Amino acid sequence: MKFLDSANMFSNVYLSLLLFASTPALAIWPAPESFSTGNSTLWIGHQLSVTYNGGHLAWAFGYVPQGPGFSSKEIVKGGVSRVMKSILEDNFVPWKLYKRMELESSEPALSKAKTYISELQITQTKTDTAKTFKPLAGEADESYSLSVGTNGTAKIEADSSTGVLRALESFSQLFYKHSQGPFIYTKMAPVKITDKPQYDHRGILFDVSRNFYSVDSIFRTIDAMAYNKMNRLHIHATDSQSWPLEIPSMPELHQKGAYAKGMTYSPKDVTTIQEYAIQRGVGVIFEIDTPGHIGVAALSHPEVVTGWNSAPWSQYCAEPPCGQLRLNDSSVDPFLDKLMADVLPRVAPYSAYFHTGGDEVNFNEYNLDPTVGTNDSAVIVPLLQAFFDKHHARVRKAGLVPMVWEEIPASYNVTVGDDVVVQSWLGDAAIKSLTGQGHKVITSNYNYWYLDCGRGQWLNFANGAQFDTYYPFNDWCSPAKGWRLVYSYDPRAGLTDDEAKLVLGGEVAAWSESIDEVNIDDILWPRSSAAGEVLWSGRTDASGQNRTQLDAAPRLAEFRERMLARGIKSAPVHMVFCTQGMDPSACQIT
Ligand SMILES: *[C@@H]1O[C@H](CO)[C@@H](O)[C@H](O)[C@H]1NC(C)=O
Ligand SMILES: *[C@@H]1O[C@H](CO)[C@@H](O)[C@H](O)[C@H]1NC(C)=O
Ligand SMILES: *[C@@H]1O[C@H](CO)[C@@H](O)[C@H](O)[C@H]1NC(C)=O
Ligand SMILES: *[C@@H]1O[C@H](CO)[C@@H](O)[C@H](O)[C@H]1NC(C)=O
Ligand SMILES: *[C@@H]1O[C@H](CO)[C@@H](O)[C@H](O)[C@H]1NC(C)=O
Ligand SMILES: *[C@@H]1O[C@H](CO)[C@@H](O)[C@H](O)[C@H]1NC(C)=O
Repeated sequence: MKFLDSANMFSNVYLSLLLFASTPALAIWPAPESFSTGNSTLWIGHQLSVTYNGGHLAWAFGYVPQGPGFSSKEIVKGGVSRVMKSILEDNFVPWKLYKRMELESSEPALSKAKTYISELQITQTKTDTAKTFKPLAGEADESYSLSVGTNGTAKIEADSSTGVLRALESFSQLFYKHSQGPFIYTKMAPVKITDKPQYDHRGILFDVSRNFYSVDSIFRTIDAMAYNKMNRLHIHATDSQSWPLEIPSMPELHQKGAYAKGMTYSPKDVTTIQEYAIQRGVGVIFEIDTPGHIGVAALSHPEVVTGWNSAPWSQYCAEPPCGQLRLNDSSVDPFLDKLMADVLPRVAPYSAYFHTGGDEVNFNEYNLDPTVGTNDSAVIVPLLQAFFDKHHARVRKAGLVPMVWEEIPASYNVTVGDDVVVQSWLGDAAIKSLTGQGHKVITSNYNYWYLDCGRGQWLNFANGAQFDTYYPFNDWCSPAKGWRLVYSYDPRAGLTDDEAKLVLGGEVAAWSESIDEVNIDDILWPRSSAAGEVLWSGRTDASGQNRTQLDAAPRLAEFRERMLARGIKSAPVHMVFCTQGMDPSACQIT
């Protein structure tokens, strides 16, 4: 599929960056599989005419795809409309990319005749199916090609509407705003790109239970994911601390378990989030964690929970308040039957997966469980096996594929079906072992991709022994995972080819004990972008070399400015001294 010779390949562009560092080069994030650029200037404006499979596409700022259901043309029309807003209205003047005081002399002259991009021809070469809009890993073709000719014709070709959306994001990153007015240009025509992702699952774990997030902040995160070509939003919807998910047949769960009235997601919110995501090529995966991390259900259903708020909590759970589902109580199955019969049919039209949790089940809680009365794994493991057999059957019956945290198969030796996707967080050895046993895996390796780490403890320590023991109050997964560390992670490190194929991708995790919607953008971005590039472009480049920070830093710095211009409050990549001139060696360790 590669139409470029190796002289134009990515690693050589990196070389040219080092040699002619003062001119921004194609900085598309995540890096496309292959591309070539020129040095002609083209302008773009409101008059851009767009066609889709030969027919005129009437794009407009703020256009929202119309239902019912999902139409490829509507999704593309929405995508073009959003991307044109990013290009024309939410663009940035790239003074941070040019050497001090050199921006103006580097910008194309406004006085000269301008060649505008007059037409964007979008061709979708295959027909979308129902799976396009809720794909399992491997079921969506996200590949695309994009060209921008010096005569002002741009072309996108993709098999699916999702591929078109990915192409549009790359297109949007070609343009800058002129400092002297509302003029938008690229200096890199002609452009040719062919591209496709290396991993099918490129996600973010969003924890709406420890702190509540408005639907708007979830929308904003989905927007940013789309800019990064990420495609899975995993919403950890409930935990022991709060139950924000409204279950119409069991309203007592949120009425007693939400943090406050109104701090909930209605069925309409859930559907709206899923539709919003699908329109952007993102699939939402909801998680209701079981049998651990569900203590708050005791406020409305004490009969199904063991050890609610048990003390001292550190003996019974990973963080307060404790509480797990009882493992041998006749009330638990009816509870889960009713809960799942309500949730699953509502999410199934829009999601391919449902996450059943399974992390950090604390066996000591079962000492307190009147139906178990022991922490002996010989007693508990068969009960857990029966629990997940039944629970995954509920998920499958609703047409969804179950996901679980790695402890279920790896620590508790519970057998799960071949269809189940296992989410690993304990690192390389765990992934090797899980894939070695034939499990499909996504990775959230906490040594690299836990974005909440390294910001200090969120627990309190009394003066005296506690203060002295825990000083200086590092959290359990300190240090912080800076974007360079996030970027260094290879999800397939140390695996055989067969094992590597089972790694479907990964998710960065933003566990929210000390994150809420005020600081979530700063936590997620640009670090999720770093993971996003690993997952889209691969840890190695087209010539098989490890991607380097020297290549990534200037592009990520530029992309951060794009995210900022589009309303994502991303942290900076580094100070302006390091970005001006796009010379990564200026801030390289010596
Ligand atoms: C643009 O690229 C062409 C072909 O590589 C080269 O000959 C020309 O000098 C370049 N022009 C500028 C202004 O850099
Ligand atoms: C530009 O060139 C392409 C490829 O040769 C052609 O398909 C397109 O019609 C041209 N556009 C204009 C505006 O001349
Ligand atoms: C589970 O409960 C049943 C019925 O109450 C009881 O007969 C059985 O011994 C219990 N199993 C365990 C492992 O405690
Ligand atoms: C199991 O429970 C007993 C108390 O019943 C306790 O002494 C023991 O430490 C527990 N085992 C583990 C592994 O925590
Ligand atoms: C699972 O199996 C491993 C290896 O046989 C064993 O070390 C571990 O204790 C088992 N875990 C449980 C909870 O039974
Ligand atoms: C890439 O980096 C990893 C981790 O440092 C190293 O093991 C591997 O040999 C490197 N591969 C190449 C091709 O440089």
